[in-house]
Amino acid sequence: MLPAADRPLVLIGLMATGKSTVGRRLASRHGWRFFDTDAVIAERNGPIPAIFAELGESGFRRIEAQVVAEVLAEAGGGAVVSLGGGAVLDEGTRRLLKKACVVFLDADLATVLPRLSGDTGRPLLADGAAETWARLDRERRPLYEALASATVDTRNAAPDVVVRRLEDQLRHHFRTEEGTLGNDR
Ligand code: S3P
Repeated sequence: MLPAADRPLVLIGLMATGKSTVGRRLASRHGWRFFDTDAVIAERNGPIPAIFAELGESGFRRIEAQVVAEVLAEAGGGAVVSLGGGAVLDEGTRRLLKKACVVFLDADLATVLPRLSGDTGRPLLADGAAETWARLDRERRPLYEALASATVDTRNAAPDVVVRRLEDQLRHHFRTEEGTLGNDR
């Protein structure tokens, strides 16, 4: 059992890297609360593809930034928060993440490709999922790397393996003298 964090543990990374699955399992293993910002957005506003269709990506980003800020404020310690892949594009969100334990779930196209086929829930991937994912990976990787205090390699790894790797990273990076999980930056 890992000690409860003194701030939320936030998972970032591209679409289909397993942020929600891994985050939920990690939280349940340690008795932590789990928040999925995409799920909160959909609960309040309806399905994400419909939001994109009605308000465009910029409208979605406005809603997303607001929800992320609320969730991070509510989450506090002892919680895992999974962010949508593009949440880090918002400057205000990036500022808020400085007060969290941020972990980047790193993947490659070969790992995520089977999860993307037939996916209708991710409007950004509607025109050529593989090409778009690879482009977003190139564009966003520098942001993910700059924000994260730790990176977990998820390539060819089942969710439970990723959870174990994540726990190893947490012990390594975030343990403070008091034995709680703090941010080592
Ligand atoms: C997006 C990622 C999605 C969702 C939306 C936009 C992105 O979340 O927020 O479709 O811009 O990368 P997941 O990363 O959970 O798929």
